[in-house]
Amino acid sequence: STPFTIAIDGPAAAGKGTISKAVAAHFGFAHLDTGLLYRAVGAKLLLGMEPIEAAQRLTAEDLQTYGLRSPEVAQAASKVAVIAEVRAALLDFQRSFARRAGGAVLDGRDIGTVICPEAEAKLFVTASAEVRADRRFAELSAQGAAISRAQVLADVKERDARDRNRAEAPLLPADDAVEIDTSDMSIEAAIAAAIAAIEARR
Ligand code: C5P
Repeated sequence: STPFTIAIDGPAAAGKGTISKAVAAHFGFAHLDTGLLYRAVGAKLLLGMEPIEAAQRLTAEDLQTYGLRSPEVAQAASKVAVIAEVRAALLDFQRSFARRAGGAVLDGRDIGTVICPEAEAKLFVTASAEVRADRRFAELSAQGAAISRAQVLADVKERDARDRNRAEAPLLPADDAVEIDTSDMSIEAAIAAAIAAIEARR
């Protein structure tokens, strides 16, 4: 079947991951969490490696590395993500994934603006910083992480500011993206809204 790209962007912990997985399952598309690419490079930075080289040599196994979901790695990811050469090294992989036969969902920060400006459907998923911190705190606490809600809120805000204010591929909605604010939505309602917005483009 012909390629069909769904781009899902938004700030940290807005619900992109959950929505992307559900949308991919609904349409029978492949899913790529592009944040994992930056997290894998961030994890290498924490090990003392040079980030540009790490991005150029990234392998599929690097994406399976234990601990990529930790708050420390998230911060390191947003630091390497400001480097133009790091972003350039990850571009081709994302673009070919997006155009694979059978359809693809990519979630991240710059999918609709830089990676796939021609995507057939674009969503920009947001929620207030307070709501996003609550959700991420619940997630991390359930995993047994020793972190306070205040620390999670500070982390989320710091990462958002870095992602929004960088020169290269800043976090911002594409002109033709459908915005979904999930602050007051259940996850089921958010998924239904996402699917409805995509159906309208099919
Ligand atoms: O989505 P996630 O929170 O896993 O992303 C981690 C970090 O990677 C983000 O804070 C952002 O700095 C960076 N990122 C990016 N572009 C993407 C996906 C993630 O710059 N497409």
